[in-house]
Amino acid sequence: MTDWVWEYEGYDPAQESLRESLCTLGNGRFATRGAAPECDADGIHYPGTYAAGCYNRLTTDVAGHQVENEDMVNLPNWLPLRFRILGEGGPGPWLTPETAAVLDHRLSLRLSSGLLERRTRYEGRGGHRLTVRQQRLVHMTDPHLAVLRSELTSENWTGELEVEAALDGTVTNSGVARYGRLNGHHLTHVHTGSAAQDTVWLRCRTSTSDIRVGMAARTSVSDGQQPELGSEERRAAQWFRFSLTPGRTVTVDKIVALHTSRDPAISDPLQAAVDRVRDAPGFDDLLETHLTAWDQMWRRAELEVPGEGGRILRLHLFHVLQTLSPHTADLDVGVPARGLHGEAYRGHVFWDELFVLPYLNLHFPEVSRALLTYRHRRLEQARSAARGTGRAGAMYPWQSGSDGREETQELHLNPRSGRWLPDHSRLQHHVGSAIAHNVWQYCEASGDTEFLHTKGAEMLLEIARFWAESATYDEAMRRYRIRGVVGPDEYHDGYPGADRPGLDDNAYTNVTAAWVLARAIDLMTTLPEPRRRELTERTGFDGGELELWEDVSRSLYVPFHDGVISQFEGYGELAELDWEAYAKRYQDIRRLDRILEAEGDTVNRYKASKQADVLMLGYLFSPATLHALLARLGHTLDDEDWHRTVDYYLGRTSHGSTLSGLVHGWVLARGRRAEAWAFVQEALKGDIADLQGGTTGEGIHLGAMAGTLDVVQRGLTGLETRGGALWLDPVPMPELAEYGFALRYRGHWGVRLRIRPGRLHIDVPASDRSPITIELPDRAVSVAPGESCELRLTD
Ligand code: BGC
Repeated sequence: MTDWVWEYEGYDPAQESLRESLCTLGNGRFATRGAAPECDADGIHYPGTYAAGCYNRLTTDVAGHQVENEDMVNLPNWLPLRFRILGEGGPGPWLTPETAAVLDHRLSLRLSSGLLERRTRYEGRGGHRLTVRQQRLVHMTDPHLAVLRSELTSENWTGELEVEAALDGTVTNSGVARYGRLNGHHLTHVHTGSAAQDTVWLRCRTSTSDIRVGMAARTSVSDGQQPELGSEERRAAQWFRFSLTPGRTVTVDKIVALHTSRDPAISDPLQAAVDRVRDAPGFDDLLETHLTAWDQMWRRAELEVPGEGGRILRLHLFHVLQTLSPHTADLDVGVPARGLHGEAYRGHVFWDELFVLPYLNLHFPEVSRALLTYRHRRLEQARSAARGTGRAGAMYPWQSGSDGREETQELHLNPRSGRWLPDHSRLQHHVGSAIAHNVWQYCEASGDTEFLHTKGAEMLLEIARFWAESATYDEAMRRYRIRGVVGPDEYHDGYPGADRPGLDDNAYTNVTAAWVLARAIDLMTTLPEPRRRELTERTGFDGGELELWEDVSRSLYVPFHDGVISQFEGYGELAELDWEAYAKRYQDIRRLDRILEAEGDTVNRYKASKQADVLMLGYLFSPATLHALLARLGHTLDDEDWHRTVDYYLGRTSHGSTLSGLVHGWVLARGRRAEAWAFVQEALKGDIADLQGGTTGEGIHLGAMAGTLDVVQRGLTGLETRGGALWLDPVPMPELAEYGFALRYRGHWGVRLRIRPGRLHIDVPASDRSPITIELPDRAVSVAPGESCELRLTD
């Protein structure tokens, strides 16, 4: 494997779903899993195609409950291309790894060019050998196109080969076994037809969201023959017959267009798709423009990290860019937690953007802005959700989909016990602080004051308002408290034996709420006066509120026990778990919640977390900012207190989320601790080695993938965009001592940073922008456009 190619050798049915996820191709608008085109969905293969933001809502009866779910829809499959040998006794079976012997199989994902290549040698009936070579792309310049080139070669026989290219509308959402009981039939009104001798089409619509989908395929073959066209129930097909002799190759090019009624600048999705394939150039020209688009993206996302770590980071970057590309900037979509790579979490949008936007802010700020605009468009819905609980302000949903209502399921299945259990994860109101944090960070990195003063200010104000309204004053404590919430560690969703869900004073929630309130005060007091007046008129904001925010932001309660920050009030009284015994009994104890529930116990009784919760504070805030924040809340937290807190939770976390290794790696790296690398590696391997046991096959973990990029970009460098300056405070990590990357900062394109032990090199390309102020712990320097500078780092 070279640095830019990700390869899988040999056919292994058990690995197929993982490979399909990791070999997904996409362009920010839609993506298709790396499934073999000759295979239908079954227990092994799962060809899924998903368009960003294309959801549908269905209801299912589960255990006597009407369960409603909104899912990212598996769209008609554009891949199908199958082949069979027409022998004298009639056609042989369509060749697939299940019907023929696979002599060789290699899948190569070319990261530099966004191409998936495969080469398979089949041996069918009578020892007939066929070599299949394919190249596939989901076009990065024209985001409505995808292309599959197939080259089929007879190795040792003379005879006829039949090839069928199809568009398949029989698909359902059935990619996640756990959701098997739920209705997955999202497509209705499936019709097929032909538009020209070489073009077939399929149109359908989603059953309740009424999104119309149009797909067209133009197929051409090297010998110039015209296909026989036909359609079966929900499937449009084209058939070709070739006479082959040993060594003869035929080439089949299938060019596909996909449109939905959510696309701008079209009238009818089917007509748009038919027109688009008609006008599309051939394979070679499409490949060339696709390569140019990828070249440009890689330049913007330049990242040089040596070794295996660098190779994995490049794969992560590839999948981030395929999910959230410059094309995403035109869409009304959020950050899907599992990419456009599978159906886990139903394509929903969680707080994971907290781990994704910091990367995008410094490379593709226009994409960050669009993702924040997705949240802004749903501000009214969030306000209405807050009103529904008797509070003012905006309560963003824990899981968001098409219209921004709460999409978190009411019940979830524990596959270990087979029981459906109440799901209280919607009490994770901290998602609002993540959005506010992202607004702030985006504006700091991009200098986009227009956004900050308009949409950004509106969101920040309403989120701050929600926190101020959620805080209740406890006379005895003389503190404000936020009660009945769930923190990032979603194992703990209530007190043992309590009749109501939720916990009080989750430290992460309270400290981030205080931060949001403080930033909202800063913003409201510095907004240009006319704009402040507009906001005041529009939102009824008044000076009294500012006083309340000031008060709450200084006196929210942060619980402590045994000299460490408590995850929530009462955490210190929970029982200790016998970690060793559980690890011995179950080996993999990442999903401790499921294990304990299946035993008739509950994780709520124990000091055992799914993922970083208190430690998230060290991920979001630099030590200086965190100390200042806690000081504002009347606490002193020195380095020793923080280290003690880190150690405390390190020993009590099962890492049941891919986000956990990432945050621990970051926090430990910033604390210059030797264990950091082990956690960074866990985060790097999370998806490629499927560490969460079978979950990557259902979709990648986008937050963890983007987060690992940010471990290098901001974690190791200590990079912060604050007060109009670029702050840097690199920490050494022996396993990753040299690295470099380019970033976009406040209108400067391609600013290059390179770190070597004890040295930092910065290049600022020529432009008409002002010089960049670099703040190091012991000095500030200014680097003008067109200049570079080498700085010695003091340790
Ligand atoms: C994690 C959440 C995360 C979600 C989606 C869950 O397993 O606990 O923090 O937002 O996955 O990635």
